[in-house]
Amino acid sequence: MAIVPEEIEGYAQAHTTPPSELPRRLAEETRATLRSPQMLTGTIEGRFLEFLVYATGARRVLELGTYSGYSAISMAAALPAEGRIDTCEVDEQHAEVASRYIEEAGLSDRITIHLGPALETLARLEGEFDFVFIDADKENYVNYYEAVLPRLTERGLIAADNTLWSGRVLDGSDDSEGTLAIRAFNEHVRGDERVVSVMLTVRDGVTLIRRA
Ligand SMILES: C[S@@+](CC[C@H](N)C(=O)[O-])C[C@H]1O[C@@H](n2cnc3c(N)ncnc32)[C@H](O)[C@@H]1O
Repeated sequence: MAIVPEEIEGYAQAHTTPPSELPRRLAEETRATLRSPQMLTGTIEGRFLEFLVYATGARRVLELGTYSGYSAISMAAALPAEGRIDTCEVDEQHAEVASRYIEEAGLSDRITIHLGPALETLARLEGEFDFVFIDADKENYVNYYEAVLPRLTERGLIAADNTLWSGRVLDGSDDSEGTLAIRAFNEHVRGDERVVSVMLTVRDGVTLIRRA
């Protein structure tokens, strides 16, 4: 179930700067060859992430959940010259597609794909992050959040994807794993006095979080 009515989403997309040829081709290949192509952020959210990186001036970006690389490539478009993205992916096939397009886009020196469970990668990565995009397995959202919050730079931001979970967070009878995990994450953030957050109805729900 789409949260935003299809016609309105279509209208918003038609009034958003379209992706260039490479991300368009990447999206096509993803739809044709990978499982769960609805996971790809796409035009509106891709541009939104690009805007967040641009507006915050983020230089060090962390992404949890690369998939085929659409969001990483979108964010890279707004990075300053010295900016870098570390992106974490556990699935080899997803990482292979992402890596191919990142290379073709000439971004291999700016985007590093870390193959393996994101929590393990995160424990190995050093330093702080200006912008973190949480978009991997929903069951670990609270763990990701707790791991990255202390590692945000002073004006750092977290964006967590799918926090409206197709509206299923509202359905009290839905106790599937994903729904419970997203609900738990949303309650965790709402009850956390260390942060200020806003839940946006962009695509499948995006929550922005910063330190209070
Ligand atoms: C929603 S998709 C990411 C979409 C991507 N950000 C985009 O916009 O195209 C989630 C990805 O997280 C990966 N994933 C799932 N569990 C993971 C884990 N424990 N560590 C790292 N990646 C994981 C999945 O294989 C999948 O590719």
